Order: sequence, then C-alpha cells, then structure tokens
Amino acid sequence: MKIAVLVGSLRKDSWTRKVARALEPFMPGFTFDHVEIGHLPLYNQDLETDQPPTEWTRFRDEMRAAQAYLFATPEYNRTIPGALKNAIDVGSRPPGKSSFAGTKPGAVVSVSPGMFGGFGANHHLRQTLVFLDVAVLQQPEMYVNNAAKLFDEHGALADDSAKKLFEKFGAAFAAWAKRFG
Ligand code: FNR
Repeated sequence: MKIAVLVGSLRKDSWTRKVARALEPFMPGFTFDHVEIGHLPLYNQDLETDQPPTEWTRFRDEMRAAQAYLFATPEYNRTIPGALKNAIDVGSRPPGKSSFAGTKPGAVVSVSPGMFGGFGANHHLRQTLVFLDVAVLQQPEMYVNNAAKLFDEHGALADDSAKKLFEKFGAAFAAWAKRFG
C-alpha cells in the first residue's frame, strides 16, 4: 500500500521530516512516497484553466495515486505552515475534482522542538481534512514535542518513550489504512 507523505516544513534539517522518516520502520509492508510541496506555485484561481501549472497537475496526480496520506507538520504561529496549506488547496481543486476525494485513510503527526507538540497545527489540519473527506486516524493522537531531543548524532530515533509512541501510532495507522484497502 502506497502512502503519500506530505511534510509541512521545507527546510533541509527539518525535525518534522526526521519524524516522518522515523515512522516508516514501524509500518512494515507500506511504501512511503515523500511528495515535494515547496515548488508548487501559490494557489490562484486565475491559473485554474485548461492548462494549469504543470507542478499542480503532477502533484494532483500524485495525490490521486496515493492509497493513504500521512501529513507531518510543524506548527507555525499555532497553525500549519503556508506551504502545506497551499499544497492542500492545490490538491483540493478544481471544484468537484479534488485529488483527495474517495474517503481515503490518513493520519496527522505534528512536531515541535517546543513543549506543546504542535497541538494547534494538528487540529487545524484535522479540520481541513474533514472537509476534504480524508478519513483521519483518531487515536493515538501524535503530538511530537521536544523533537530536537529525540534523535542521536546519527539521526536515529533514540528516545524510548518516543519509540513506544511511534510503535503504537504506526500499528494503529497500518491497521486503519488496511481497513480501507
Ligand atoms: C515557529 N515555531 C513554532 N513552534 C511551535 O511549537 N509553535 C508555533 O506556533 C511556532 N511558530 C513558528 C512560526 C514560524 C514562522 C516559524 C519559522 C517557527 C518554531 C518551529 O517549531 C521550529 O522552527 C521547528 O524547527 C520547525 O519545524 P521543522 O522545520 O524543524 O520541521
């Protein structure tokens, strides 16, 4: 089963991307397609013609081809970064042709080096995904806080309580995704 992974941070050393990658071993049998979002032109309805930007079309095709979605997001000012919202907006259009349509399974992970684990971003994202009819895993919720302290110098997940949460989340998301398969 192919999971499209959307990471809300564009920066090279993103903790959010490290967390998304660290989840993969906890979901054996799934393939993870990290979809780039940083190059997508900002959504503008004027560009929604017979020939929209090629980056949009490619992204929409990738979203349509996915069997499940993993949204991994940092929190910017208590919500999701603009780049991730832009990607979701691009994928959701044109009207009636959302690439997310079809009640496919999804999951949300929010990540922060701070103490609240991106709670605000997590729930704003869930609100949007309800409208897009992505069936989001309810439990366990995944708020990854103190993200900078979870990895060793080789980038491996080193924190025992985080490992337990990743394991629980990975198993739950795998079971959830299979129910739709
Ligand atoms: C942040 N950061 C942040 N952190 C947080 O926990 N809650 C917040 O509301 C914000 N707001 C915020 C706004 C903006 C514009 C930036 C650039 C950053 C800090 C953020 O968690 C930190 O930069 C992370 O390292 C971003 O995630 P990545 O890039 O490491 O994945």
